[in-house]
Formats: sequence, C-alpha cells, structure tokens
Amino acid sequence: MTDHDSFLRQLGDRLSTDAVVTDPADLEPRLVDWRKVYRGRAIALVRPRDVSEVAATVRVAAEHGVAIVPQGGNTGLSGGATPLPDRSQIVLSLERMARIRAVDRVGMTVEADAGCVVEDVKRAAEDVGRLLPIGFGAQGSAHIGGIVSTNAGGVNALRYGTTRQLVLGLEAVLADGTVLHGLRGLRKDNAGYDWKQILIGSEGTLGIVTGALLRLVPRPRERESAWISVTSPTRALELLERLLDRMGDSIVAFELMSHASVSKGTHYLDIDLPVAESAWHVLVEVADSAGELKRRLEEGLLAAAESGLLEDAVPAATDIQRERFWTLREGLGEAERHAGATAKHDVAVSVSDVPAFLEEAERAALGVGPGLSINAYGHLADGNVHFNVMLGDGGVPVEAVGRAVHDVVARFDGSISAEHGIGRGRVDELERLKPPAELELMRKLKHALDPQGLLNPGKVLASRG
Ligand code: FAD
Ligand code: MLT
Ligand code: ZN
Repeated sequence: MTDHDSFLRQLGDRLSTDAVVTDPADLEPRLVDWRKVYRGRAIALVRPRDVSEVAATVRVAAEHGVAIVPQGGNTGLSGGATPLPDRSQIVLSLERMARIRAVDRVGMTVEADAGCVVEDVKRAAEDVGRLLPIGFGAQGSAHIGGIVSTNAGGVNALRYGTTRQLVLGLEAVLADGTVLHGLRGLRKDNAGYDWKQILIGSEGTLGIVTGALLRLVPRPRERESAWISVTSPTRALELLERLLDRMGDSIVAFELMSHASVSKGTHYLDIDLPVAESAWHVLVEVADSAGELKRRLEEGLLAAAESGLLEDAVPAATDIQRERFWTLREGLGEAERHAGATAKHDVAVSVSDVPAFLEEAERAALGVGPGLSINAYGHLADGNVHFNVMLGDGGVPVEAVGRAVHDVVARFDGSISAEHGIGRGRVDELERLKPPAELELMRKLKHALDPQGLLNPGKVLASRG
C-alpha cells in the first residue's frame, strides 16, 4: 500500500460518504484554472460536509505531509486555486457546505457557509430588502470562501469597499486543525488582535475559511446607469470629479474601458455599442433611495457635456438596457480570453495617477517586443486598472511583459495586485518588488500559522519545501 493509499483510506474512514473523489474525470476540471493558463495534479478532490470534517481533513493531511489547495468557484485569475504540478496535494472544495445560515434584517448581516455561491447570498439578502454590496462578473460561480480569501473587489468597491470591509465575522480552520468560531456580527470589537483580517485575502495560505458573517446595506430603491464616451482617461477623471460633487456617494460604480477592450466585448457578446466608436468609455452607476436619481444623473451628465468633458452619454432607458450595459462591461474579461493569449495585470495606482500610468505603461509594454497590443479596462475610481497586454504572435514571453508593466507600477508606488491576488502567477514578481521588510513579515506570519507549509504551498510566497 502506498502512502497515498493509506492517506486516502484514513480520510475515507474519517469523512462522510462521497467526500473523497479520485475519479480522474471528476478531478480534471479542478486541476486547471478559469483562463486555462495554470495546470496541476492532485491525489484527490475532498468535499467535506461540515467544519468538523474540514478540521479532520486538515489533521489527516498534516499527519501524511499532504498539502491542501482550497478551491471555491475556481474563477480566480491568478492560479491560486490550481494545484502545483509536482506536489503531494489534495484539492479541498467546500461546495457541499452551501447553507445560508441566517439573514438578519435589522442587524443587516448575512451568515453563510463558505461554499455558498455569491449570487445566491445576494439574492437571499435582496429577498428581505437588503443588499450584499459586492458585484463582479464571476459572482454566479464564485464562492463566499473565495471572495473572502481573495478579498475580492469588483465594481462597487468605490462605494462599499472590498470584501474586507464587509466581513464582520469568520469561521475558519487553521493548519493544525484548530477551529476558530468567530461568527460574531459585532460592529465594534477591539478585544485583542483582529485575526480575521490576516485570513482575509490570504488566498488559502494561512487558513481555510468555512463560514462568514457579512455586512449588508439597505437595498437602494433606485438604480441608474449611463454609458459614456470620453476622449481620454484624464477626461474620465474630470467627469468623475464633477459627478462626485453633484451626486456624492450615490455613485456606486465608475468603470473605464479602452476602445480595444470594448470592441472585443461587443464582437464576442454580440451587443451593440450604445454610443458612437470612441477612444475610451465610462460606465457609471448611481444607486440611492433619496429619489429623483434619474433626473439628477441626467442633469449631471448634461452639465459635463456642456463643459466638454464627454463626447456622448446614453443613460439606460430601462432595467433591461442597464443590464445589457453591465453584461458588456462584465464580459470584457471573457471576450479578451477568447481573443488570444494575454499578459494579465491587475494593478493599482493612486486614482489621480491613472492617466499618466496608462501612458507610461503602454510605452513600456509595447517596447518589450513585436506583436503586442494593449487591452485595458478597470475600476477607475479605485485606481485599479486591468492593464492587459495581448501577446499576439511575436513570441514575446509573458514574464518579460509583466516585468516591464510592474516596473512602471513600482515607479508610481502602486500595487501589482489590486484585487485578483498573487496566487501562483505573481509569486516571483512579489518577491522582486515587495519591500524586503514586508516580505519578511509575511514569511513570519506564514511560518507561525502553517509551520509545515501545507496550506496552498507555492502561492503568494515561494514554497520553501
Ligand atoms: P477560487 O478561484 O476557487 O480561489 C481563489 C483563491 O482563494 C485561491 O487561492 C484559493 O485557494 C482560495 N480559496 C478559495 N476558497 C477558499 C476557502 N474557503 N478558504 C481558504 N481559501 C480559499 N475579482 C475581483 O476581485 N473583482 C472583479 O471584478 C472580478 N471579476 C471577475 C470576472 C470574471 C469573468 C472572472 C472569471 C473572475 C473575476 N474575478 C474578479 C476573480 C475571481 O472571481 C475572484 O477572485 C473571486 O473572489 C474568486 O472566488 P472563487 O470562489 O472562484 O475562488
Ligand atoms: C474585471 O474587472 O472585469 C475583472 O476583474 C476580470 C478581469 O480582469 O478580466
Ligand atoms: Zn476587476
């Protein structure tokens, strides 16, 4: 009997029926990421039923030196949920832990298992007149455990913050099998270190999230969007400033998209562009319960047009048109994936530096070699640009493009990952660019919480084993 056989047998003995899956056909989709860029191997897919089974899995894995790769909806864009090709490891999915445990209307919280799909939790909140204020293209597949572990951002971070700002309590299992029961919905809690903040955004390398208690907000009664064309990112920022003055925190999204990214989207999704062709596009959304939202948005856009800040603006006439605007915006990643191989970057710089960053990054990236073209879009109001570079067929290595773009990010004192995380794809770049003292602190935290290095090895930090 091999070590793996005895490991699988012990695991099978400790967990409920069907928890351990070894059929290669069932494993296959778990071994590759959404973009099909990363691939790996695993001994098994393990699907515990509850937190005690998660803890049992962790203990048995630790006894056998088997690493654990937590996987949620497998929509991550940095390879964090994909096992490595050369490690003894299992994929741990919490898909059978998918119960929405409670929705509290007055306390404005929702408590959910980590395996719940984000959209299902959003729907449960909406059913009682509340909103889970996170939105992004993959919300129909991503899990609560996934958004917590990546600190997902999305299109509403401007108004509501990233996932970190929504987490009031967490339940998690540590590398030694300890269960942290922290599902307290307290708005204020300074009793000691706020340990959940260390797990949020740790991409499965410090603990396994099994449940979360998330903050809700009242569901706005009105919601309006407009698709706008502008001549440059600088104009888009001026428009943002103007609308912030007029509409304040009614603005819940302000997205910037290049012509290249939008035209791939209209082509792939077969959606008509709402405005004439333009170098840059903005999608703005406002949401409020104060009333007269449509009139206020239209007046704001008219005033901006009179000042020459925008070329054209089309407010959505109906909810269906508004949804179509968002289908186009949120389909840009998918359209790009179908257009060819990409060097994908998820950078953040300060909001007012975005136009200068875009110019410098374009110069630097296109200078790396032949055949490259830029496909940029992102969350302008967060300073978060998906500065993606289509590789074409000039044979330019993806890593060389990445280094050129990230060097520009470093000159702007920015971040090489605003929301998608380091995963497997940006480990070398984090080591190259993160200040040594900060990297050392990260390594100390990793060693303190996972001394055997069994939680998602080789992700975020280089594997030392
Ligand atoms: P996975 O991809 O399965 O895992 C992601 C990471 O979290 C991995 O490191 C994994 O090991 C870890 N993990 C997962 N579950 C757990 C758990 N229970 N405990 C511990 N670790 C865990 N992201 C944004 O931030 N903003 C966007 O706007 C956005 N748009 C997207 C649009 C599309 C079309 C796609 C495909 C992706 C998009 N993403 C976006 C990326 C992705 O959807 C998010 O990172 C999301 O949070 C991942 O959730 P998931 O459940 O799929 O996690
Ligand atoms: C987005 O903003 O659309 C996402 O983060 C996904 C992507 O970058 O492709
Ligand atoms: Zn994004």
